[in-house]
Amino acid sequence: MGEPGKTKFQIDLRRYLREQEEDRNLTRLICEIADASKYIVNSIRTGDLGVAGTSNLYGEDQLALDVLSDRILRKRLLHSGVVANIVSEETSDIIPISTDCAGKYSVAFDPLDGSSLVDVNLAVGTIVSIYEGCELLQPGRNQVAAMYILYGPRTTLVFSTGSGVHEFGMNQLMEYTLLRENIRMEPRGSIYSPGGQRNLYSPGTESFVRHLEGNGAKLRYSGGFVPDINQILMKGKGLFMYPHLQGSPNGKLRVLYELNPMAYLIEQAGGAASTGRGRILDLEPKQIDDRAPVFIGCREDVAMAEEFIRTQG
Ligand code: AHG
Ligand code: MN
Ligand code: MN
Repeated sequence: MGEPGKTKFQIDLRRYLREQEEDRNLTRLICEIADASKYIVNSIRTGDLGVAGTSNLYGEDQLALDVLSDRILRKRLLHSGVVANIVSEETSDIIPISTDCAGKYSVAFDPLDGSSLVDVNLAVGTIVSIYEGCELLQPGRNQVAAMYILYGPRTTLVFSTGSGVHEFGMNQLMEYTLLRENIRMEPRGSIYSPGGQRNLYSPGTESFVRHLEGNGAKLRYSGGFVPDINQILMKGKGLFMYPHLQGSPNGKLRVLYELNPMAYLIEQAGGAASTGRGRILDLEPKQIDDRAPVFIGCREDVAMAEEFIRTQG
């Protein structure tokens, strides 16, 4: 594994995927998305459209970063040669790239989650869900890979292809090299990340939060799904929730390109992800913008949330 003399932790993403003997087209796809993130991180840092790498953007009025990020990723996926269909938070429909499904992948992505946080210099991220073939409206348990890129003080990329969760960091040459392999979560946590308005929580959710607070859990919430999940995954001890609320029974987060990829990653690290009444990855999405409530993180904390909701609603 790796070149002699070269420690495993200088290994770059492409070599790592090759040594895991990943499917060549899946390796190509993951590396294309990793490459696209270089342009996204530059646009976030400098707001300089020139680095977007696409001529038709050059010199145009400043594009909203999420639209720019969407166009950077879409262009990459379009020319990758390994993609059948895509859907993004910024598109209203599924975009067909190729009708030939064999050996190809379909991708649901949030090009820039938490984009409104850039103005206050908080961390944001790109979230990606990957299926084999042409179908995107299928349960998240069928994903073959999921990943996110976190644009924080450091730029990191976290992915799984079903054999554990691994973290890569972007170095000065803008290459991604291995930081952590096979990240695992504890059975229960010590931080909680409560999204949504507390005064709209159901009785079960309210009792659950009071239980966590009674046990000394600390509140950690940035308003960015990617950094909030990343903190729980990397510390291995915590739970994020964006629950059902009075007036919004399905919470806020979208199943296809926010909940399914994060649920896949957290489960691969030994955690759990639930709507409060059932596994996120077993949801049967009906539309590309389906939403669901979410409790995600340490498996015993998620089980406890489900119990409070089962008994108190
Ligand atoms: P997006 O910016 O892609 O619309 O997603 C924002 C989401 C997610 O990042 C975060 O968990 C949630 O919005 C925060 O919602 P509140 O501002 O209601 O807490
Ligand atoms: Mn989002
Ligand atoms: Mn977004």
